[in-house]
Amino acid sequence: MTTTGTSWNLDRARALDAEDPLGEARRMFALPAGTIYLNGNSLGPLPTAAATRVRETVENEWGGSLSAGWIGRGWMDAPERLGDRIAPLVGALPGEVLVADTTSVVLAKLLGAALAARADRRVVLSSSDNFPSDLYVAAAVARRSGATLRVVDRSELVGALDDTVAVCCLTQVDFRTGALLDLPGLTEAAHAVGALSLWDLCHSAGVVPVGCEVNGVDLAVGCTYKYLNAGPGAPAFLYVRRELQGALDNPVPGWLGHAEPFAFDLDWEPSRGIRKFLTSTPPVVALSALDAALDVFEGIAIEEIRAKSMALGELLADFVAAAGVADLELASPASPAERGAQVSFRHPRASDLVASAARRGVVGDLRPPALCRFGLTPLALSFEEVFHGAEVIVDVARALA
Ligand SMILES: Cc1ncc(COP(=O)(O)O)c(C=O)c1O
Repeated sequence: MTTTGTSWNLDRARALDAEDPLGEARRMFALPAGTIYLNGNSLGPLPTAAATRVRETVENEWGGSLSAGWIGRGWMDAPERLGDRIAPLVGALPGEVLVADTTSVVLAKLLGAALAARADRRVVLSSSDNFPSDLYVAAAVARRSGATLRVVDRSELVGALDDTVAVCCLTQVDFRTGALLDLPGLTEAAHAVGALSLWDLCHSAGVVPVGCEVNGVDLAVGCTYKYLNAGPGAPAFLYVRRELQGALDNPVPGWLGHAEPFAFDLDWEPSRGIRKFLTSTPPVVALSALDAALDVFEGIAIEEIRAKSMALGELLADFVAAAGVADLELASPASPAERGAQVSFRHPRASDLVASAARRGVVGDLRPPALCRFGLTPLALSFEEVFHGAEVIVDVARALA
């Protein structure tokens, strides 16, 4: 898919749609008429099948099977089964991903586990531009483990890695600018000093080929409500590299992670494999929405999604650059290879820009004071839609100039 070279026009966008191997997936999403939704980095759009599946789960499974559903309908196994469906999207192996809790909670669990396993090292390293919730969690977990959180500028991460660092905890895609961190390089640098790597994949899962396995990632967490489109407040996932699963303990050892939950033993015995990181009863209705949302990815390689994502981002960034509107400048890296599925712009009246664009049906979001973010869900967007979205953004910015 080539997007560089000539300038953008509607015919060119339509020509890309005509040859788009993922174009059919657009029909699997229900979006309000007249809306161009460029906010998939906040909340993914609704896959049509998710609405049907949730209704079926509620009416047939819950209503029809009642408590027999825990075994008869496979509710108990859903956290691992759905983890295995997410695994190929993040380059993990079967048995390495589990769906549970929320991102902040699974982050607390994995950081706690990592600090307990590396008792001789008392530093968690992170970057100052990490998602703030991750830093709150890391600071609190570190404090309770007798460790400290060391936060440095992203450019100083490699230099800050030493033999005091137990775990290097970073987010692969910057939530403000969409900048992609060097996951392979930083993971290798962490390993070189004997530290574990823990990656937040919230803005990666479903759009960036993370390659957990090939890059030797030790631990990861992520949400399913952004580019996996599983709905507001959908559960999170955690990844623990297979070789580490025996050595790490779940710091919140609930009954569902017990080897025999229904034996009701007084002592906690970990379940085998990734399941030991489970704590509580699975949220069955929410998991059914995730299951349907993952159907949309069936038969599609993450590399194909990445190719379309880069092309869509290039359209938006190039169109805006070519328009040369005063005060509207790219805040994301200029190269598509260096950003996730998001393009951000800086504008002194960012709030007005986002609000005016929304009134014209183009939904993005704001990171105050001056950032407008546009998250491009590749399976739910056509090139034509992104072209019209770019036109509106430019129009609105011109009106504000
Ligand atoms: C990068 C990142 N990490 C963590 C979180 C927090 O997720 P949760 O609300 O599921 O704990 C978010 C939420 O948007 C996020 O963008």
